[in-house]
Amino acid sequence: MTVKIAPSILSADIMNLERDVRAADQAGADVFHIDMMDGNFVPNMSFSPAVVEGMRRVTDKPLDIHMMMENPDAYVKPVIDAGANTVLIHAESTQHIYRSIELVKSYGAKAGVVINPGTPLETVKELFPIIDRILVMTVNPGFGGQTFIPGMTKKIQRLDQLRQTAADDNFDIEVDGGINSETIAQCAKAGADIFVAGSYLFNGQDGLKDRIDGLRSVALE
Ligand code: DX5
Ligand code: ZN
Repeated sequence: MTVKIAPSILSADIMNLERDVRAADQAGADVFHIDMMDGNFVPNMSFSPAVVEGMRRVTDKPLDIHMMMENPDAYVKPVIDAGANTVLIHAESTQHIYRSIELVKSYGAKAGVVINPGTPLETVKELFPIIDRILVMTVNPGFGGQTFIPGMTKKIQRLDQLRQTAADDNFDIEVDGGINSETIAQCAKAGADIFVAGSYLFNGQDGLKDRIDGLRSVALE
């Protein structure tokens, strides 16, 4: 089993973003998670393609863009041009999620679909043949530091079962929201492969390396 730890820079110190990105890179982050929020799809605002471009200059690690915006298609090319490796689009944010995923792939990036806690797995089943990843939100999107929704563990389990029985099982399962040393164990057991963590990593008292190593070892247990 492979485990990937993805620090969410939403919880980094924005006035010291370069410092925090370099620190997380050296501490063993597998990939960086960059939240893009437009103040409409979610009640918050965050990073833009310019931030992706800046991050690309300070790390060689893959950059994942979690789009939380209306009209995500408009920002697919800008973020890929800025250096994004994977673009994750909410199924609820576009009327044509299949087309949005194809658009991402047409630029040579990896594509993933994201589902909110209230969105059923049925919504994404037809995408299995074309997606690289499914991100299951384990909190309602918009803010860092929220509490993991316990019912999501069963949802991940069901998705993993669907993946195992599907002919097209070539996607990873990712979780985002409320991930810490306890919830990561539940998600890993349920079948998740990639773990986003924001506040747990950046607001912790012990070092980033200890926290990343700790999460990884719990997930691998
Ligand atoms: C929330 C964001 C998350 C957020 C996670 O909408 O998508 O990526 O940074 O933060 P924590 O790990 O603190 O729940
Ligand atoms: Zn996110």
